Amino acid sequence: MKKVLVINGPNLDLLGKRETDIYGDITIDDINKDLREIASSSGAKIEFFQSNHEGDIVDRIGSADVDGILINPAAYTHTSVAIRDALSARELVTVEVHLSNIYAREEFRHKSLVAPVVTGQISGFGKNSYTYGLKALLELIDEKGKN
Ligand code: DQA
Repeated sequence: MKKVLVINGPNLDLLGKRETDIYGDITIDDINKDLREIASSSGAKIEFFQSNHEGDIVDRIGSADVDGILINPAAYTHTSVAIRDALSARELVTVEVHLSNIYAREEFRHKSLVAPVVTGQISGFGKNSYTYGLKALLELIDEKGKN
C-alpha cells in the first residue's frame, strides 16, 4: 500500500482565520478531509503533520516511513536550508504546494529554497494546489514503482 505524508508549515494551522483575502476561508481540516478522500479512493495511506517549528519539521521528514511527501513549507519555503537539506537527504517523491501564487506576491516570496530538491511545485490554486499535488504525488509514486 502506498503511504504518503502531508506536511504543513508555520501558521497554516490558522487557515480560515488568517489573511482570508489571500488564503480564503477554508481550514486545514477542510483541506485534509479532501486529501483523505483522494488517498482512500486510490488505496493509499495518508498521514498529516503541521508544525510552526522548523526543527520539528526537519525531524518529521527524517523519520517519515512513507513513499512520498506533499509539503507546504509556508514561510520556511523562503528561508529554510535545514528543511531543504532534510528533503534532499530522503530519496522520496516530493511535491511542494502553495495556496497562493508565490511568484505573484512580494519579491521575498519568489525564491523557494526547497524547489530545487523536490520533484515538482504547484502554486496558486488555493486548496486545489493540495488536491492536484496529491494526485500528482500518487501518480509519481506509481511511476517510480514501475522502474
Ligand atoms: C504559502 C506562501 C508563503 O509565502 C507564506 O509564507 C505562507 C503560505 C502559501 O501556501 O501560499 O505561509 O506557502
